[in-house]
Amino acid sequence: MTASLGLLGSGRIGGTLARLAVAAGLEVVLSNSRGPETLADLVAELGPRARAATPAEAAEAGDLVVATIPLHAYGELPASALAGKTVLDTMNYYPQRDGRIAELDTNELTSSALVQRHLAGSRVIKAFNNISYFHLLDLARSAGAPDRSALPIAGDDPVAKAEATRLLDALGYDAVDIGTLAESWRSEPDAPGYVQPYFPAGRPEGMSGEETFRWLLATPGTTVPADRVRELVDSAVRGPAGGFVDAPGL
Ligand SMILES: NC(=O)c1ccc[n+]([C@@H]2O[C@H](COP(=O)([O-])OP(=O)(O)OC[C@H]3O[C@@H](n4cnc5c(N)ncnc54)[C@H](OP(=O)(O)O)[C@@H]3O)[C@@H](O)[C@H]2O)c1
Repeated sequence: MTASLGLLGSGRIGGTLARLAVAAGLEVVLSNSRGPETLADLVAELGPRARAATPAEAAEAGDLVVATIPLHAYGELPASALAGKTVLDTMNYYPQRDGRIAELDTNELTSSALVQRHLAGSRVIKAFNNISYFHLLDLARSAGAPDRSALPIAGDDPVAKAEATRLLDALGYDAVDIGTLAESWRSEPDAPGYVQPYFPAGRPEGMSGEETFRWLLATPGTTVPADRVRELVDSAVRGPAGGFVDAPGL
């Protein structure tokens, strides 16, 4: 039973997961690169179930821990404090932001397998990486709701996958097991199941990146049930790793 969630990174995805976790009755321990004091406003907004700490403290405090920082900083994740833990990895490879990472460019590793290599004593699960933060908040639904969406998870450890599935359920999503970390390219940027399926239909033509972003924020997302996630994941064909975005905030 997950009673507390440690967050390594408390930005758009980390902050959204913290909101969902607090709403689900979990304790959250937030952290970032600049120090706990810089998270005071978010902690105040989240209320008494939230506190801020250093990344190592958040890693130790969480029954489950989410690593949700820019991928280029993955080597700074506190491997010792995370040893023995299940770590949910939301990270994606964007060379514009992350620089070039050779093992990813050659498809030798998926980005989550790279993270697992760094966190050798942890059980890494790829999760929450294929949905934009605003849809992650907007599309969460109670178990059994007819318009509940699903998200893919990938990992090498069945017990950790079961833990992740229960966390997703508590936070408002069904989970679709898409295989091992080596197979997790099927939910990486530019795969058919990556962010777009959750976007609303009917985007007006000719919008700039900024206008698209504003429109996305103002328009409810699309429910993507588990069978559709499975179809999208199964239809993926491996291409070059790394996404490209021109819309701010995505
Ligand atoms: N945005 C999305 O919709 C979305 C969707 C799916 C997946 N993702 C992926 O999820 C990850 C997080 O994305 P995001 O949009 O939430 O990023 P973000 O808004 O830029 O937030 C990043 C967070 O990571 C923290 N951080 C950076 N380096 C750190 C370090 N070495 N140790 C601890 N914390 C550190 C930052 O803290 P400081 O501010 O103090 O530096 C910040 O709290 C990325 O890999 C992204 O590709 C994003």
